[in-house]
Amino acid sequence: MALNEKTIYQLANELFSLWPKSESTQDSPHQLLVTAENSLHAITATPSQQMLSSTYDDVIQATNAQPQSDFPERQFIPEIPNRSQIKSLDESQAIHLTNEQFRQNSPEESVNQYNATTSSFYFLNSDSKPIQDAVSLTTSVQDEYFSVPSVDYKNLFTISETANLSQQHGQTNNFYFTTLEAKAPLKTSEPITQIQDNFAITKFKSHAIQQLDVEAIRRDFPILQQQINGYPLVWFDNAATTQKPNCVIERISDFYRCENSNIHRAAHTLAARSTDAFEQARQIVANFIGAESSDEIIFVRGATEGINLVAKTWGMQNILAGDEILISQLEHHANIVPWYQLCQQTGAKIRVIPVDETGQIMLHQLPELINKRTKLVAISQVSNALGTITPVTEVIEIAHNKGAKVLIDAAQSISHLANNVQLLDADFLVFSGHKVYAPTGIGVLYAKAELLHNMPVWQGGGNMIQDVSFDYISYQDAPNKFEAGTANIADAVGLGAALNYIQSIGIDNIAHYEQQLLEYGQYRLLSVPKLKLIGTANHKTSIMSFILDGHRTETVGQFLNQHGIAVRSGHHCAQPILRRFGLESTVRPSLAFYNTMTEIDHMVDVLHQLQRYKTNI
Ligand code: ALA
Repeated sequence: MALNEKTIYQLANELFSLWPKSESTQDSPHQLLVTAENSLHAITATPSQQMLSSTYDDVIQATNAQPQSDFPERQFIPEIPNRSQIKSLDESQAIHLTNEQFRQNSPEESVNQYNATTSSFYFLNSDSKPIQDAVSLTTSVQDEYFSVPSVDYKNLFTISETANLSQQHGQTNNFYFTTLEAKAPLKTSEPITQIQDNFAITKFKSHAIQQLDVEAIRRDFPILQQQINGYPLVWFDNAATTQKPNCVIERISDFYRCENSNIHRAAHTLAARSTDAFEQARQIVANFIGAESSDEIIFVRGATEGINLVAKTWGMQNILAGDEILISQLEHHANIVPWYQLCQQTGAKIRVIPVDETGQIMLHQLPELINKRTKLVAISQVSNALGTITPVTEVIEIAHNKGAKVLIDAAQSISHLANNVQLLDADFLVFSGHKVYAPTGIGVLYAKAELLHNMPVWQGGGNMIQDVSFDYISYQDAPNKFEAGTANIADAVGLGAALNYIQSIGIDNIAHYEQQLLEYGQYRLLSVPKLKLIGTANHKTSIMSFILDGHRTETVGQFLNQHGIAVRSGHHCAQPILRRFGLESTVRPSLAFYNTMTEIDHMVDVLHQLQRYKTNI
């Protein structure tokens, strides 16, 4: 067998992945790989081999507790960027800050050390006291709007004096690092008196935030324990689908072991168990999204089917020629195509809420876009391509004032943000189970009871009828009237288990941690030369779309995959919003609460390699 560099590299990786853990430096795999690297250097020193040696460094790095310092690009930042350093940004510039400008202004290194110890519980440092000197916010505002974190609050939320000054002078800052939580969120019970693009994220609860023990959480996800191409798997494709915890896998397995039956309670014991499990899952969903009753929860295959159900029932019943459906430029194809089809059938028209340079909808244009012909506003709560959190509270209030109904596509928000359909006053809300740690093939349509009652049925068959003859058929009430045929019972039960799991950790705790990850991730990504973030709205969650000048997005995705990192490259089923930015495709790392800053460091290092050597694969 010819022993070229690639073969040596592969063999070393294989050996390395099999090598038992050892405390000794004499026989450690680290040592072995350094030796292998050195011998490669001895053979030749072309750029591609230099890249190979960098790749070895990465392997070493991924398996060492202490990162190596021989990466010129590595600014090892074990915790979130320190805001007291970021405040050196000129706030008057920040409004128009480009990626390049930010890169130039970024601190050289971080001084913020992360000292939390790991625990076998999900939460760390639960006895920490809230920091007293979170500047510039009155105590009452803090109490009312800020969750009190148990982590290093000061470093996380230090707000610069210049930022305060610019707020006092009524300026807005579109650069989201600096003033992320400085604005007090609207209270949902308050009427909206002023429409502005500089809205704040709606929060439904305000209670103490507990920091997550991510290592303990990661142990719940067996799929994360594997290697891909010789590297530990880094799952950064969470916007496409999330991984499943053991409790979900086991719940489904237990269902098939002990409860499996069709859901017709009265027939026999297993039918009773299965019916109870299915209806219990419906109740868990109702509780999770704050629905008034589990009768308002329709099980569907996913968000796409939920939207299609609304379009083909409520839409066909209520939308006539000349009516208008308002969607945003951010929408996933699933929230465009069904409305386009409905308009084709009815003669109605689609209108679009435009999006600004940061990727946020232009809320101030909404009152003009909605008129008495507008029957429905259908909008994503989080953009799957950019991560923008849209101001759905304001959208719903404005729409309702004009008599329009609102459908919220929560496919990308359900795993990241607390939701309460009653407080939001949403008419319809859809999400997919697989985006929230549950199985594929199960999802939810929520609709207000009154709407469901008046909506016509769509699919016909068993389970949804009261009485059938050849002359006359009567139907059950919701939810059954929309669930023809045998449901996806086991996966609905799995969805219930996933939502219970999320509840046990706390969606607010998850949101808090993911926000830190996002800030850290975007900050680190901007250290990569010629990388441009696409989507820089003030309010974002978990998605870091980017392009890398000089490389096709597919190439970047493949190169990352060679290093064990899974991202999506492409149009993300959201072509209109990418075209708004003159693009057909981006690279989209998307985060979940089992991801870590170390994984982000690994991705950033690999991107630096790609840029340094300009090697296409
Ligand atoms: N909607 C999924 C995504 O954004 C598939 O990737």
